[in-house]
Amino acid sequence: MPPPVSPSGVMDRPDGYGVVSRSLHWLMAALLAWQFTSAAVRQLLPETPIEAFFWSTHTSLGFLLLILVLLRGVWALVNLGRRPDSGLLAGLGHLVLYLLMIAIPTLGILRAYARGRGYSPFGIPVFSPRDQEIEPLVEVANAWHGLLGWTLLALIVGHVGMAFLHRRADGRRVLTHMTKGS
Ligand code: HEM
Ligand code: HEM
Repeated sequence: MPPPVSPSGVMDRPDGYGVVSRSLHWLMAALLAWQFTSAAVRQLLPETPIEAFFWSTHTSLGFLLLILVLLRGVWALVNLGRRPDSGLLAGLGHLVLYLLMIAIPTLGILRAYARGRGYSPFGIPVFSPRDQEIEPLVEVANAWHGLLGWTLLALIVGHVGMAFLHRRADGRRVLTHMTKGS
């Protein structure tokens, strides 16, 4: 009888991502899908109950996404030497995804600060309301938040396409690095 396939471990390995990296990847993918839905309905279905439903989660979920990406970044650094080698181009692509996943919610939070109306994601008080709005900062943060947000969405579409198309030297899909972890 062939030996049973050993379950992949906690840490990443050159032939696949471990359970922590895979959980963070797929959890964040699902939450980002929700986050982009809320941004899209704000543009496409303003003043509707659908917008009210999705939009009510945007600023809290954005805060959670920022915490998750910081944890994921630390975990990526801990595993740097043992992760699958994606190659230079894909590696740079992943780095850009990280930078955007950090910059976008940071700009959102900066905007909330500049608005001066207070910010309490999930009821946790981060900033209390102030009297004044810092208008130029609101405008800059607003413009870049949306622009970088839609840029991230475009890059994710490219990333998903590459994940399905890209194959390893032995012809197997790289997709299994992130699904089965081997
Ligand atoms: C990874 C996390 C996030 C993503 C991917 C994201 C993405 C987006 C996108 C694509 C838009 C649409 C921009 C447009 O109108 O074209 C948007 C709008 C907005 N986001 Fe976020 N966002 C995130 C986190 C946050 C956070 C943490 C906050 C606040 C604390 C925030 C506050 C806002 C606000 C207020 C708008 C609406 C701006 C307006 O309608 O004028 N976002 N976001
Ligand atoms: C259906 C959606 C997705 C699929 C099929 C997918 C697939 C994959 C695969 C196969 C890998 C491993 C690539 C390799 O070993 O060379 C990977 C890595 C990665 N993916 Fe995705 N992905 C998806 C969504 C996302 C989303 C929404 C993001 C967020 C921006 C993302 C960010 C990353 C990053 C940063 C890596 C590098 C490993 C890490 O640090 O977690 N992916 N993805």
